Amino acid sequence: MYKVRFVNPQKQYADHRDELLGAMDEVLKRGALVTPKDLAVFEEKFAELCEARYGIATNSGTSALDIALQAAGVGPGDEVITVAHTFIASISTICMTGAKAVLVDVGRDFNMDASKIEEAISPQTKAIMPVHFNGRLCDMEAVMEIAKRKGLIVIEDAAQALGATMKMADGTVKKAGTFGLVGCFSLYWAKALGGPGTAGIAVTDDAEVARKLRLMRYNGEDREDRHFYYHAHNFLLDNIKAAFLLVKMKYFPEWLRRRKEIAEMYRKGLENVKGVKQLPHFDDDRRSDIYNNYVILVERRDELKKYLDDNQSAETLVQYATPNYEEPVMKETKGKLWRFGNLNATSLPVTEEICKDVISLPMYPELTNEQVDYVIETIKNFYK
Ligand SMILES: Cc1ncc(COP(=O)(O)O)c(C=O)c1O
Repeated sequence: MYKVRFVNPQKQYADHRDELLGAMDEVLKRGALVTPKDLAVFEEKFAELCEARYGIATNSGTSALDIALQAAGVGPGDEVITVAHTFIASISTICMTGAKAVLVDVGRDFNMDASKIEEAISPQTKAIMPVHFNGRLCDMEAVMEIAKRKGLIVIEDAAQALGATMKMADGTVKKAGTFGLVGCFSLYWAKALGGPGTAGIAVTDDAEVARKLRLMRYNGEDREDRHFYYHAHNFLLDNIKAAFLLVKMKYFPEWLRRRKEIAEMYRKGLENVKGVKQLPHFDDDRRSDIYNNYVILVERRDELKKYLDDNQSAETLVQYATPNYEEPVMKETKGKLWRFGNLNATSLPVTEEICKDVISLPMYPELTNEQVDYVIETIKNFYK
């Protein structure tokens, strides 16, 4: 048993058990299992939290991306620009519409390098899908400027970025998910705001797009007139999960504050450790990151992980360590369903460099200061 676990959902559940069970019990007692009150209230409150007009909840973040692409009219013959340092769903949802995913490199902050977008644009380009990775926004000022100039739709994969913000040149502070046409969030249990299993939500300011999203997440049916307007999946979020998430949402601002506090502790403890090549703190006071994951770049990554595992000290995860284009499905479909943004590219150099060194440290609000200090000390010991 690790002294500090990578995740600890049991602790959060124990802290709020009565309230969570009470909310779910209410739903079951009312027999209101699908669509009514709790789901609608959750959608409204979530949209408020993001400062968007509409929220359409789904059974996963992947489903939210799926309906967002469909609602944007992405389909065969189109291209959508995204990255190869992401969870595969960003790319797969594009490919599943029949469109082609066009992969550009990321910067050292793990996010889409906006300077690589223009060379990836072709006459077929319909949309850009920036992925706000690890809880940090892409440079949305730059992405939106290009999208506007080139007439492209933006669909944000904000799966990991609920609550992340960016101050724009005009002084307004905008939240993840509200820059483009649709913003898609994952509410998977391990995310900063997580349901009891899988869940997701799409947000938008556009009333017509909201209607499409709502119909497309539930068999294409308009629940008012009971007619079917699209061939669509059933991606609905259960009412019982919405009730669970509504309880958790109350605590989210406090959890976010604690994440940032833990990130600061890691920064102070690890910033001068020889062997630690990069901490996820980047000089840009426009952006406020939420540290959905706390990912560092280190020397001798696999040895460090083995050391921590052998001693059962701190549990870490080497995740997103394979450039997506190295996955079997991508090798099989190259050319047909995806291409590199720069047509001469055979790989994406920063993506590859990052993948070699990434390791994720425990990051959840229930971590105690003693546990964070312990993780820092064990890493320091390894590099001594
Ligand atoms: C960047 C990114 N996009 C999409 C998804 C898909 O979300 P879900 O797992 O809720 O389907 C995830 C989930 O891990 C993600 O991290």
